[in-house]
Order: sequence, then structure tokens, then C-alpha cells
Amino acid sequence: MEKKQRIVLTGFMGVGKSTIARFLASLLNCKKLDLDAFIEQSEGKTIAEIIKIEGENRFREIETKNLRRILSNDEAQILALGGGAWTIAENRRLIKEKKLTTVWLESTFEHCWRNIRMSKRERPLAKNKPDTQRLFEEREKLYCLADWHFIIKPDLTSFEIAKKIAEEVFSMKFD
Ligand code: S3P
Repeated sequence: MEKKQRIVLTGFMGVGKSTIARFLASLLNCKKLDLDAFIEQSEGKTIAEIIKIEGENRFREIETKNLRRILSNDEAQILALGGGAWTIAENRRLIKEKKLTTVWLESTFEHCWRNIRMSKRERPLAKNKPDTQRLFEEREKLYCLADWHFIIKPDLTSFEIAKKIAEEVFSMKFD
């Protein structure tokens, strides 16, 4: 296993990035960071508050600023992005510049939408199904630019997906 390889998990809202990042960090015994949680802590507001009060454009500026801060410190080996972060060209440039490996957690819109509906987290950019589906379709071509693609099948648990990533990306062996 390449100890220094840092990875970024991307994918649409509700795909399970944060949960998979947590399992992956425990399998690799390394530190993980969640960009949204990091933003909420550093800004002292929830993501929903930032988007609703200051607007999406301002949120994207804050997101890039915090991503830059995280990337300038190589402590966390696993980084879970918010669903829109990878769709911003400047963020992709920063991630590539630091040579992180990107992993797209790919799933169907229905799977993501189910999880969005079930989650207690407020997501101002996923208010109704048709608009959210449009966003999902628009973003697929950008998520496609990630180095690795993992298809999230409904019969796999988040732990099993994390294991698959550890095996394939980090060449870890499990018995
Ligand atoms: C967003 C996804 C959210 C959060 C914000 C915007 C998006 O993160 O960053 O609400 O644009 O897709 P999750 O993907 O963790 O829901």
C-alpha cells in the first residue's frame, strides 16, 4: 500500500460519501476529513444556513477557500467532498495540483434521492425531485473526470464498498 496516497471521494448528494470515508479511514487506519463538516466548524454556520442566507455563489467561494486550507495540510489521507465541490473547475485544479487520487462514487438518481429524502440533513440544493434530477444529470460528465469510478450497488453495504476501494485503490488484502 502506498502510504502517502491521499484520496478524495466525490459523487452526488446522498450517495454515501461521508459514511464510506469513515469506513475507509478505519480500514486504512488513517485520518479522514469531511469538507462540509470542516466548513461548518470553521465558519460557525451550517451549510444550509450559508446557502440560504448568503447564496450558492458565496458558498462556493467559502468551499474553495476551505478546500485550499485542507489541501495545504497533508494530515488527512481521506477527504470526503460535498456533492458540488468537484464540479467547480478551480477545485478540480487544486486537487490535481496536490496529486490526490479522486474516486467517484457512482449511483442511480433514485438511490441518491431516496437517501436525500430519508436524511435529516437539510440540503437547499435538493429541494424537489425534477430540479435535483436535472442537477444529477448535468454533473455526471464532471464526476466522470475522477480517476476511479465505483458503482454503488444497492446490495452492497457502505463497509463493503469501503473494502472494495481499499482493495483496488490501495491494494489491500482482506481474507
Ligand atoms: C451540495 C452538496 C452538499 C453540500 C451542499 C451543496 C451540492 O453535500 O455541500 O449542500 O452542491 O451537491 P453532500 O453531497 O454531502 O450532501
